[in-house]
Amino acid sequence: MPHTPYYLIDKSKLLRNMEKIAYVREHSGAKALLALKCFATWSVFDFMSDYMDGTTSSSLHEVKLGRKKFGKETHAYSVAYADSEIDEVIENADKIIFNSISQLNRFADAASGIVRGLRLNPQVSSSSFDLADPARPFSRLGEWDVTKVEAVMDRISGFMIHNNCENADFDLFDNMLGDIETKFGSLLSRVEWVSLGGGIHFTGDNYPLDKFCARLRAFSEKYGVQVYLEPGEASITKSTTLEVTVLDTLFNGKNLAIVDSSIEAHMLDLLIYRETAKIEPNKGDHAYMICGKSCLAGDVFGEFNFANEIRVGDRISIQDAAGYTMVKKNWFNGVGMPSIVIKELDGSERVVREFTFDDYVSSLS
Ligand SMILES: Cc1ncc(COP(=O)(O)O)c(C=O)c1O
Repeated sequence: MPHTPYYLIDKSKLLRNMEKIAYVREHSGAKALLALKCFATWSVFDFMSDYMDGTTSSSLHEVKLGRKKFGKETHAYSVAYADSEIDEVIENADKIIFNSISQLNRFADAASGIVRGLRLNPQVSSSSFDLADPARPFSRLGEWDVTKVEAVMDRISGFMIHNNCENADFDLFDNMLGDIETKFGSLLSRVEWVSLGGGIHFTGDNYPLDKFCARLRAFSEKYGVQVYLEPGEASITKSTTLEVTVLDTLFNGKNLAIVDSSIEAHMLDLLIYRETAKIEPNKGDHAYMICGKSCLAGDVFGEFNFANEIRVGDRISIQDAAGYTMVKKNWFNGVGMPSIVIKELDGSERVVREFTFDDYVSSLS
């Protein structure tokens, strides 16, 4: 049994998402690229690559990782490329998507031998968080002015539009795609491919997959484009837990349990978005606040109910710990970095990465 803390990736749960993605590819004609910003744990890429078409990226490092570890189709995108990285990005990509017309123009010569695209911003999104809303006022994420985009159509053959955000509502997706068609329809029929980005929770329970597929296919046929999806969270949702052990218990008006992990270091997004972690089944008469071991006063995973009193040494599984966790983990307080463990389809567990004091030291100088 590995030492806690560790992220436990369960391939049989990952498989459920992969099968839905494969279904959508087959029935809609869309291609699916894993968004590495969300999940880049390459030890399971061999497994995932049987069900997906490739990867998309947000930096030079990600595009190289995608090409090297996942293979298949590799898309490059970045909010802004530096002069010093553009050649290496192009070397490692099948398509490059620029965030702005000025970047497209700046790298016109360097990128003349590769398929190019531009990010469009339809100025509508499903995000309820200003922080994560690509359509927020003054957003830098993509071009929105049709006249300006028309002027560079000879340089591009596709668009990327990412405006869904944790969107589990098909009707909302459908309506927003309608908005995109109204706004950019004249441009869409002039390109060969359109990526609709990530943020669509189509692998979730009860998502109307057939309606989704039909909508994607109709869009693709209407404009004569190859559609791409860039699922991050949808690829790995509910596949992984963060396994932790209770180190101490206290009563300070509430029952507290301190675990050998930290929300700030190991599940940072929950803190950023002020969300609580998930623990199942979250039932029983014993209520506890589960706290991290960093010095941050608000290092709290949340308050949960348990069937029994919690004791030092108990194991707790924090649910849904794959997305935006391992890619964001950090060495705050020098808290031990969770190992990464894979649960194979036959139930056996394999430690694929452990982090040591030397890793901590080498992350600094
Ligand atoms: C351009 C782009 N594609 C894909 C994604 C993946 O989104 P998600 O993990 O919500 O599916 C994001 C997330 O921010 C993104 O910005």
